[in-house]
Amino acid sequence: MVKLKNLLEDIKEILLMGPGPSCVSPEVYKALSRKTLGHLDPYFIKIMDEIQVLLQKIMNTNNKLTLPISGTGSAGMETCFVNLVEPGDSLLVLINGVFGVRMVDVATRLGGQVDSMEFEWGTPINVDKVKEKLEEKSYKIVAGVHAETSTGVSNPIDKLSEILKGTDSLFLVDTVTSLGGIEVKVDEWGIDAVYSGTQKCLSCPPGLSPVSFSDKAFSVITNRKKKVPNWYLDMSLIAQYWQSDRKRVYHHTAPINMLYGLYQALRLIFEEGIENVFKRHKENHLKLKDGLEGLGLNMYVEEPYRLPMLNAVSIPEGVDDLKVRQTLLNKFSIEIGGGLGPLAGKIWRIGLMGYTARSENVDRFLEAIESTINLK
Ligand SMILES: Cc1ncc(COP(=O)(O)O)c(C=O)c1O
Repeated sequence: MVKLKNLLEDIKEILLMGPGPSCVSPEVYKALSRKTLGHLDPYFIKIMDEIQVLLQKIMNTNNKLTLPISGTGSAGMETCFVNLVEPGDSLLVLINGVFGVRMVDVATRLGGQVDSMEFEWGTPINVDKVKEKLEEKSYKIVAGVHAETSTGVSNPIDKLSEILKGTDSLFLVDTVTSLGGIEVKVDEWGIDAVYSGTQKCLSCPPGLSPVSFSDKAFSVITNRKKKVPNWYLDMSLIAQYWQSDRKRVYHHTAPINMLYGLYQALRLIFEEGIENVFKRHKENHLKLKDGLEGLGLNMYVEEPYRLPMLNAVSIPEGVDDLKVRQTLLNKFSIEIGGGLGPLAGKIWRIGLMGYTARSENVDRFLEAIESTINLK
């Protein structure tokens, strides 16, 4: 027997107030450590069925094809594009941050003919401009991000849906950061393909990506000219494992314990009450905003477009971004995020997602940032 050093023993508890992952509740940790079942065990299948029901509920959809993809949010993004895009297909991608840029990369790799419209980072997608564009040209797919985690902006998916209704375009939406923190109404907003992630407002560790496809999107998938080029993410194959009205067919070994975690996280949301969960996010966001403004700090995004779960704050002139974040981590055990791309060094991204969005965390953070900035 050899005794190896166990790095896990020294993991510190960090208050995760960055752009994700967020804090995980003890009940979800407990769920993760339940005994592993087989991926076709009838009891596990009961849990799968319930996960689908809870996902439909949180996404406000009746889509049968609603399930968690094995992989992080980017796997969900890839799933949506790889199933719907064939070489030469036209797409319009609406960009106002890193994740819109990533969508263009993913769609282009699949041979999509991508037009993009970019809006200033920190401002929302301009619906009137999109409307003008759609009057000039029609697209197979129009894609955008609901909650742009890189900037803290909430995009008007509801208003975009109004201009897309009555067109033949498929509406593809990223809800990685929004799901579980603000309302996501897949059916009402006419969304055809949507993906999310477990490590933000669902408050699970990273590793699963809930997705949902409308019947219209699924018929596009089943009528493709060529097979989906990615075997692992092919929804027509994955559906054979997840759809409860058919005999389940092995596709890949489901990440059983992660699915327990997601099941428990969704249960916790509905036990608290989804409206209460949204209210808790909003109230803690406002408390944080007031506290930051009291310290002389300014929110980066204008008032009506701010996300409650991702607070972008301008870094004051002369303050060392990295030093502040390192002090918060090393001295106070609090993680926040820095800016990405053009916003690197200009903003901090303070997450209040899921289990992190609690009053005591806001208090702890405000005390820490106050003394950290004074340390300058
Ligand atoms: C809006 C958005 N989309 C997609 C992703 C990618 O998800 P992941 O990092 O889990 O692959 C993220 C991750 O931060 C995100 O915030």
